[in-house]
Amino acid sequence: MRKVVAGNWKMHHGPRAAADFLARFRPETDPESVRLIFFVAGLSLQAVKANARVPVGLGVQNIHWEPSGALTGEISAEMAAEAGASYALVGHSERRHVFGETDAEVGRKVGAAVRAGLVPVVCVGEQLEERRAGRLDAVLRRQVSAFIPGLRGCGEFMVAYEPVWAIGTGETATPQDASEAHGILREALGELGRAPILYGGSVQPGNAAALMSVPGVDGVLVGGASLDPEVFARIAAAGRSPG
Ligand code: 13P
Repeated sequence: MRKVVAGNWKMHHGPRAAADFLARFRPETDPESVRLIFFVAGLSLQAVKANARVPVGLGVQNIHWEPSGALTGEISAEMAAEAGASYALVGHSERRHVFGETDAEVGRKVGAAVRAGLVPVVCVGEQLEERRAGRLDAVLRRQVSAFIPGLRGCGEFMVAYEPVWAIGTGETATPQDASEAHGILREALGELGRAPILYGGSVQPGNAAALMSVPGVDGVLVGGASLDPEVFARIAAAGRSPG
């Protein structure tokens, strides 16, 4: 399976910076060997689409579960699809822990993405206290069981394992940590466990190849290191399939 190398720009890169990034993004890898996806601000979708020189998948970082309504400031999955997105991050740790998104809301958003024809990339991961308390397994299983019903009718989806303590901290899960968590996730997904599972949390050019060589790690979801085109191109190269 081609590795997925996805960038989550978070609240960075408006249309001008996005166009500039794409003009300078020249990964030394071809789309046959790695699958590139950018999760960008909705306002920058068109700029990425118009300026990409290599095939890239386009995604948004959040959606609302309603298709439309009096919900000031929100964007629906249908709107994101119409604006050019094919993917949607759902349940990112910052959505869960900064904006208080619940497991139930994550499930509804997954359902909305599926109905709109977007590929949901559902983020899960434990907080440091949960890991220390030996609750990794229970937390991941709870998060997975909350979104499985939303996948009904789904053609394709992905999961991103992003331990909260590794996001933006410079602290990366070891290959063993990733292997253990991905194993739990595949088991919790049951018959859906063949979906790609990505690792995210302080991925850098220096650790990307080691993480992607872990059996069961199908790619990476990169935050800070995806903002610079040269740095991200090096991570993309690390995902290149051998041969
Ligand atoms: P960092 O790579 O900056 O740790 O962020 C990870 C992340 O949240 C990707 O979604």
